[in-house]
Amino acid sequence: IPVAPFVLTVFGATGDLARRKLLPALFHRDLDGQIPDEAVIIGVSRRPLSDEEFRNFARQALVDHVPEAELEGPELDRFLGRLSYIAANADADPGWPELAHRVSSLPSHVPVYYLATAPHLFGPICERLGKFGLAENGRVVIEKPIGKDLASALALNEQVGKIFTEDQVYRIDHYLGKETVQNLMALRFANALFEPLWNNAHIDHVQITVAEALGVEERAGYYDTAGAMRDMVQNHMLQLLCLVAMEPPASLEADAVRDEKLKVLRALKPIDDHNMAAVTVRGQYRAGASAGGAVPGYLDELGSSHSETETFVAVKAEVENWRWAGVPFYLRTGKRLASRVSEIVVGFRPVPHSVFGEGVGAIEQNRLVIRLQPDEGVKLWLMIKDPGPGGIRLTHVPLDMSFAKAFKVRNPDAYERLLLDVVRGNQTLFMRRDEVEAAWRWVDPILNAWRHTKEAPRPYTAGTWGPSAAIALIERDGRTWLEDGA
Ligand code: BG6
Repeated sequence: IPVAPFVLTVFGATGDLARRKLLPALFHRDLDGQIPDEAVIIGVSRRPLSDEEFRNFARQALVDHVPEAELEGPELDRFLGRLSYIAANADADPGWPELAHRVSSLPSHVPVYYLATAPHLFGPICERLGKFGLAENGRVVIEKPIGKDLASALALNEQVGKIFTEDQVYRIDHYLGKETVQNLMALRFANALFEPLWNNAHIDHVQITVAEALGVEERAGYYDTAGAMRDMVQNHMLQLLCLVAMEPPASLEADAVRDEKLKVLRALKPIDDHNMAAVTVRGQYRAGASAGGAVPGYLDELGSSHSETETFVAVKAEVENWRWAGVPFYLRTGKRLASRVSEIVVGFRPVPHSVFGEGVGAIEQNRLVIRLQPDEGVKLWLMIKDPGPGGIRLTHVPLDMSFAKAFKVRNPDAYERLLLDVVRGNQTLFMRRDEVEAAWRWVDPILNAWRHTKEAPRPYTAGTWGPSAAIALIERDGRTWLEDGA
């Protein structure tokens, strides 16, 4: 779908998100010829910068985050030529009339406001967008943390909702922009093979792992106020769970998909003081080793002797509906784990009876593995006969589809897709207000239960797979965490 001319205003334009993600994503789309000639990008932040200084800032961001070869052509200057800058503050008027003037001088452009700022500024910025007549026809993009609990999420959504109607609000969960995450929908709904088996009669359990090898490093200040549950589970992991568990939507129309995801969130079995200890594990990393080198513990990175913040979470979640009753969804995520890997493993039930008798090897589960990153791909683990003479021996092998090998195309960053979807007015990959709130409704009692126990997160050594209690969590059920489905 072609992209209309747009005027994109990025608030927080000199911040980390703009530098690492937004500017590189916009540049890549421009390089691919997807940004219309008339498109304009305005950077806004408090720093007093000239247009030229902002372009230099952007140039440096691209040098730091885009492969050198892509910066060699004339496209770099063309892209920088789209940029201009206005210094403005969320809670004072200077700068805003200038912004209003520039945006209104482009009446046929789609106005988009990207709030790449701290969330406490979302309300004040929206208010000023309203005050200066910028909200009408505009689209506003916000990103997590959308609240730190249900009450603060409601308040924040309310502030934004006073100025913008829901169809103008684009809440980013960048996991939804990842190629392989979208591929999950293609896999489920464009193949006749899986959907008939996609239920508790045939699926034994689901595992979702989002493991990071990095620590919190310079983000320790923010991270310590959040922890893995708020940073990863409330949003990214629950969104992945929804895409696995939702009913087939009637179409890919935004509300059709979001209605189905919402039903899943509402069907999650509550976890509170009564069952928290049996189905959740929280951990915090200590010093250890990663990628062959020694790495500090969380408290050292934080520069503090004490913190109750979890850097690891494992949860046994359950979706209490007809399709999924009795099928556990094991989720785990953490910093400073053994490797960076995000994947979804769908484990199928065992065959009802072995016709092979003794001594042929165990019949393993069929497993569908959707590898989100790195080495994006899909694997289907099957049992076959071990080739060769002699009697039957069974072996477990993957049908293996690596995207890199199959397609040989650059895997676009999630923000590339999502930014242009905002301009296209397509909200399918954005979270609706009630989804965010439903996710908090499930998360809040878990956070409260953790607080009530006064138990510290369990220590784990950096570079391992988290606290041993997380292994016990799944092994109690006679299952085991899998890597690559094996
Ligand atoms: C962000 C979290 O939303 O996602 C970070 O705040 C985390 O803590 C990041 O590192 C992971 O994203 P990705 O795309 O690198 O898997």
